[in-house]
Amino acid sequence: MLNCSIIKLDTLNTSLVFTIYGKNVELTYYGSKLSGTDGFAVDGRNPFESEWGASNDHYFTAKASYSSVGDGNAMEPLVSILNADGSFVNRFGYVKHEMVSGGEEMSALPCAHSADRTLIIEYYDDVADIALKQYYTVFSDCDVIAVRQQLINNGKDCVSVKRLFSLQLEIDGTGYKCVSFHGAWGRERFRKELTVSAGALELQSMTGHSSAMTNPFFMLEKRGVGAYAFNLIYSGNHKELIEAQAFTDNTRVLTGLSDYCLDWILKGGESFESPQAVMLFADSEREVTLQMHEFAMKHIVGRAFADMERPVLLNNWEGTYFNFNEKKLLALAEKAVEIGVELFVLDDGWFGHRDDDTSSLGDWYDNKRKLNGGLGSLADKIRAMGLKFGIWVEPEMISEDSDLFRAHPEYAMAIPGREPIRRRHQLMLDLVNPEVQDYVIKEISDVIERCGAYYVKWDCNRFMSDMYSPTLENPGEYFHRYELGLYRIIKEITQRFPEVLFESCSSGGNRFDLGMLRYMPQAWCSDMTEPGHRVSIQEGTLYAYPQSAIGAHVAAWSNTSFETKFNVACIGAFGYELDVTACSEAELQVMKAQIEYYKEHRHLLQFGRYFRLDSIFGDDGKSSWIIVNDDKSEAIAFLCATKELNNSKPSKWSFTGLDDDAMYSVEMRRQANLKDDFVISGKANGSVLNNGLISFRDLFRGEADRLPCTGTLATRLIYFKKI
Ligand code: DGJ
Repeated sequence: MLNCSIIKLDTLNTSLVFTIYGKNVELTYYGSKLSGTDGFAVDGRNPFESEWGASNDHYFTAKASYSSVGDGNAMEPLVSILNADGSFVNRFGYVKHEMVSGGEEMSALPCAHSADRTLIIEYYDDVADIALKQYYTVFSDCDVIAVRQQLINNGKDCVSVKRLFSLQLEIDGTGYKCVSFHGAWGRERFRKELTVSAGALELQSMTGHSSAMTNPFFMLEKRGVGAYAFNLIYSGNHKELIEAQAFTDNTRVLTGLSDYCLDWILKGGESFESPQAVMLFADSEREVTLQMHEFAMKHIVGRAFADMERPVLLNNWEGTYFNFNEKKLLALAEKAVEIGVELFVLDDGWFGHRDDDTSSLGDWYDNKRKLNGGLGSLADKIRAMGLKFGIWVEPEMISEDSDLFRAHPEYAMAIPGREPIRRRHQLMLDLVNPEVQDYVIKEISDVIERCGAYYVKWDCNRFMSDMYSPTLENPGEYFHRYELGLYRIIKEITQRFPEVLFESCSSGGNRFDLGMLRYMPQAWCSDMTEPGHRVSIQEGTLYAYPQSAIGAHVAAWSNTSFETKFNVACIGAFGYELDVTACSEAELQVMKAQIEYYKEHRHLLQFGRYFRLDSIFGDDGKSSWIIVNDDKSEAIAFLCATKELNNSKPSKWSFTGLDDDAMYSVEMRRQANLKDDFVISGKANGSVLNNGLISFRDLFRGEADRLPCTGTLATRLIYFKKI
């Protein structure tokens, strides 16, 4: 038997096993927890023994911990470097490993905090004089292992890094179902499925942002195996490759920074680090979601905000758009106080001479025509009414009609001599340029100080184009250097204002990722506030991100009733976005009752354990979720039907997470659009509820929302309390 050493990294329910043999390292196992690695030597061979054997002939079958160009298996590699000798080939031989407690902070990129321990494996390519370091960081409480790579060029000459992904994993078998999340503006994170039986599936964003088109979160599933889930702590271009290899009968997973246009010149003595990727293994999608939520709340969102209840807000955007003045805003705030709102947010249009989206981005001084006393004075008046004050900014942008552009046209992301592509009439700032970074830090800090903001909405309303910086020698570094510049700005500002609650936003939910969440504890989920569509958007987002991170508002623009809108939006960081001064007294009373209900159950709604019951992406037109608190004494279920309900079979809803042995009171939320005799209430045993034995035949009796734009959308909230 050949000598090899084995390292087993455990989380609460999973194990990741490394086999080190000579200069090679394999990830020989990732799955349910193993109590040990000895044993079943049925054929006289330890199952964790390297497949490489004494030579590298068997490279094809190796579940290598890394792969490079020309390593013999001709699959998509983890790393690709154009070496100083003109070759693309690297052979990184194992040198040593060590286990350190906690995580290893990254200098310029966001990474998860409060880790248990980190395994660092070092390799060396003697010919190229380049070291590879792999970091496997364990978060046992939520079964997550974070992985990242670092290259260190010890040679004298420059090399060019063409690709450095964050994570490589090879899992047994092919034919995995890949579940990933895609969309567009107003249709973010819709669940899609594809089985990868042969060849490679590529998921990617090339927009410069993590994007609504393809979220970096995805799962690989197989009956009898379970679900592997992956995500990335990064907000820019990303790429995920899932390659089914017929010869090895394995599936290789690679995920990380996209190699689109990447050409990173690594000088002698320099290092290059990948973003941190995360992976977890679980029995089911439901378990993946639970653990991903735990991970985001405990290890991504800053400690100060992890369980800080989020205030009910009123945002003026959909109520006024650009058309407001101080008088109008104070009138909105007055009504907001009456109905129980806690935070007033002033959105776009308060600065420069901005009356529409054609001007003023970059001019972060007060629009005195709209705010005669200025922003600070408005904020003081709003606070005097008993509300907190929040402000909108879009720091990464510049309008050509702005003082900033007139003074510094070179700050815009544009190529000299070429007409830049405009989106929403605006250009992006060249955040690669340190001078531009400093400008943004100064201006945005000044805005926050000027109005004493409790909350900041950080928007970003276009994709990247015309990537160019006069300060950058090598254009192949642009996309990633933009992210590094952005993270420097965000880190600096959030550290200067540690108590301010930041919400990221990007034309709705175009940058909903763990990188932004690391600095900004919540993100605006979508500009689509019509509840029929929003159910899908929120359910898709909830696969990987917790309720407290998801900004969700009731707005005025669709005909659906306020009650249906509330039932959907309350499963998140909740607020309103409409002209409350135009609402009738009856509507205000409805909102007031909704806010009372939300506040009463806020902790549960924002931080309870979320279980998906029926998926809107399934065939039966149902969506249902239940949120249960830690000791199972309380829960709220969201039930939604979108198909024609007439003459349908009795509707049964199998709940989960409730205490099988306990009795619960079951109370449907009273809705203004429901007659009292349609409101269900009673008592039931937890096991009866968990096993779907209660027929809710008449659950949607008397439903008012059978409107053309939403089909037969009907929703209810049911509250369970242990008695
Ligand atoms: C896009 C955001 O998603 C909206 O909520 C709003 O803030 C607008 N930008 C303002 O321009």
